Amino acid sequence: MTRFSFAVTATDGKARSGVISTARGEIRTPAFMPVGTAATVKAMLPESVRATGADILLGNTYHLMLRPSAERIARLGGLHKFMNWERPILTDSGGFQVMSLASLRKLTEEGVTFSSHIDGSKHHLSPERSMEIQKLLGSDIVMAFDECPALPATEEAVAKSMRLSMRWAQRSRDAFGDRPGHALFGIMQGGVTRALREESAEALTAIGFDGYAVGGLAVGEGQEAMFSVLDYAPGCLPEERPRYLMGVGKPDDIVGAVERGIDMMDCVLPSRSGRTGQAWTRRGQINIKNARHMDDPRPLDEACTCPACRNYSRAYLHHVFRAQEMISGMLLTWHNLHYYQELMAGLRAAIAAGQLSDFVAQFHALRAEGDI
Ligand code: GUN
Ligand code: ZN
Repeated sequence: MTRFSFAVTATDGKARSGVISTARGEIRTPAFMPVGTAATVKAMLPESVRATGADILLGNTYHLMLRPSAERIARLGGLHKFMNWERPILTDSGGFQVMSLASLRKLTEEGVTFSSHIDGSKHHLSPERSMEIQKLLGSDIVMAFDECPALPATEEAVAKSMRLSMRWAQRSRDAFGDRPGHALFGIMQGGVTRALREESAEALTAIGFDGYAVGGLAVGEGQEAMFSVLDYAPGCLPEERPRYLMGVGKPDDIVGAVERGIDMMDCVLPSRSGRTGQAWTRRGQINIKNARHMDDPRPLDEACTCPACRNYSRAYLHHVFRAQEMISGMLLTWHNLHYYQELMAGLRAAIAAGQLSDFVAQFHALRAEGDI
């Protein structure tokens, strides 16, 4: 069995590229993880997600425990078999989703009880239960159970929440135990306060994790505030472990995070916006609903090799979106995921060649030109 490991193979400034090895295959970093919340990357077959270049998917404890339940997935052979994705899966631990989706939440030192956003039924999550669920799912990379305070929050509330998350991180570590081939990541909190971020990093490093996430960002603070945290936060974490920025982001957020030393990211944006008619390209965002595409025989991006761009015109993509045909979400999601993975491949190659600043300058220049 391949033990979980991470090797940095090149650096350029603070940016790193490398390979995470797991029992289910390798993850090239910097990596973008498409989100497969409910055991599917919406509108995509797993083999199509793989064809875009994804090495790993993200799944959600919160959604899967409510429907169809972790125990049912375990009886059916685990999440990989259930959803027909044999490569690595990272699962988020549930606390963050409880705070954003569930109702009637009650938070204590022990954990959180809440009502399902699906049917109102009562449920409980704690560090121990989250570790149990992620084990039942068969997740390759398990996230510690944490809490992320809703913004706006006072510094005092952020500090209190971060310290609770650090106690939960220790309980997550204890409950996870020793599982060769599987990894447990801790999650740094502390809002936009440097002293709290440093305290959180120290607490996590003292416990010891296989990788470290930066949580509590991209929650409405804005890119400038996020980058100001990322200017120092990755440097507070062990250099030899992967660093994962949770829930980020737009293409320019991703580029900025990689420049600052982030190795992994996930975001619903490419898949979700594909279903609402938004395409992301080298030249920025395109709204396919717009009437200007109605008679346009050109592809979304003439340089893109995805099936949406190779085989369909903007006029067709506009038509199927307007007609609410299912292929609209399928094609735009494929294109967006392809674009994101191509961006990651470009970042990895640029870091390996020591040419990241040229790559980033070119990235911003093309976007500034806009769609033509
Ligand atoms: N997804 C985005 N941000 C967070 C966070 O702070 N914690 C967890 N568990 N998941 C996230
Ligand atoms: Zn395309």
